[in-house]
Amino acid sequence: MRIAVIPGDGIGQEVVAAALPALDLVAEIFDLDATVEQFDWGADRWLRTGVGLPEGAVAQLRAEFDAVLLGALGDPRIPDMAHGRDILLGLRRGLDLCVNHRPLPLATGTIELFRENTQGLYAGVGGTVGPPDRPTVAIDECVYTRDTVQRFLRYSLGRIRDAGQRRVTLVHKANAVPHTGRLWRELYAAELAAFPELDGTDEYVDAFCYHLVRDPGRYQGVVAPNLFGDIISDIGAALLGGLGLAASASICPQARLALFEPVHGSAPDIAGTGVANPYATVLCLALMLDHLGHRAPADALRAALAAARAEGGTPDVGGHDTTSGFMTRVLAALRHQ
Ligand code: NAI
Repeated sequence: MRIAVIPGDGIGQEVVAAALPALDLVAEIFDLDATVEQFDWGADRWLRTGVGLPEGAVAQLRAEFDAVLLGALGDPRIPDMAHGRDILLGLRRGLDLCVNHRPLPLATGTIELFRENTQGLYAGVGGTVGPPDRPTVAIDECVYTRDTVQRFLRYSLGRIRDAGQRRVTLVHKANAVPHTGRLWRELYAAELAAFPELDGTDEYVDAFCYHLVRDPGRYQGVVAPNLFGDIISDIGAALLGGLGLAASASICPQARLALFEPVHGSAPDIAGTGVANPYATVLCLALMLDHLGHRAPADALRAALAAARAEGGTPDVGGHDTTSGFMTRVLAALRHQ
């Protein structure tokens, strides 16, 4: 198993450095061969060289690695996040990672949330009319292709079924955003026909957000276009207890290589203080091991996280642990399983 690691910026570097020993230990316990190579793609390199995602990076990742772990990108010195877009969107598009999976293990049951990851309002299509510094009109187009929506839905519905869930909800806004909304609903109905085990329904995104907060147990599998999925998953992270607990996997339905990253950003407000929560990053390692077919070590990591969390936690989840203090608990729990 060859893993490319991009620590990134701010607490991304801290949580990745803290979490990697858990990968080493679980690999040792389960006799897995896991090699890690680190890449310094992030703000410092961008400011030094003007390069975000280097030429040939996508081809190298495809040829040499099974998975990518990304900490977080974002730096106050680059307010427009130009480097982050270059790297993150470059990887998502370059590796065709059209599926973003964010499991939400809530007290009311796990919601398996799937978000389309490459198109919609994030397709990068648009522009302005008028003077560049004071445009009179600004346009971002919401673009979806039949092929991508179909691949996204087929893969996501399959994963929801395989997770043993019966109910699935499509989130959309077809009353106000009719063209892409209609395409999504048409393809959802067509793809659902191949999954008789699933009971499919759909909801407008505004009503969905209302119900998600009031009654999360109403949902099992959820599939959503890019922007709606982005917003919903942060509501989900809040329901989980904080951004520091939420992990995600970005997947290409046609390839083994996938990218794993915590949902949170680079948190400049706490970077360097030693209290960033590494929970989500360790959970990313579990999702990665699952994805690569190593279920037992993935379960061991999840159990160790649960044990560590029962004993303590970092301040963002109401505890007093430092980043390394929490990881000491995780490693001890792993050793004692
Ligand atoms: P953020 O997720 O970095 O932080 C939001 C709040 O949650 C902050 O108060 C932060 O201290 C706290 N927080 C986040 N993760 C935490 C953790 N692991 N442990 C403890 N507390 C944690 O979002 P924000 O502040 O909006 O963005 C900061 C930078 O990160 C920006 O440049 C933004 O563009 C970028 N960003 C990058 C993402 C990525 O790399 N995928 C995702 C979201 C934001």
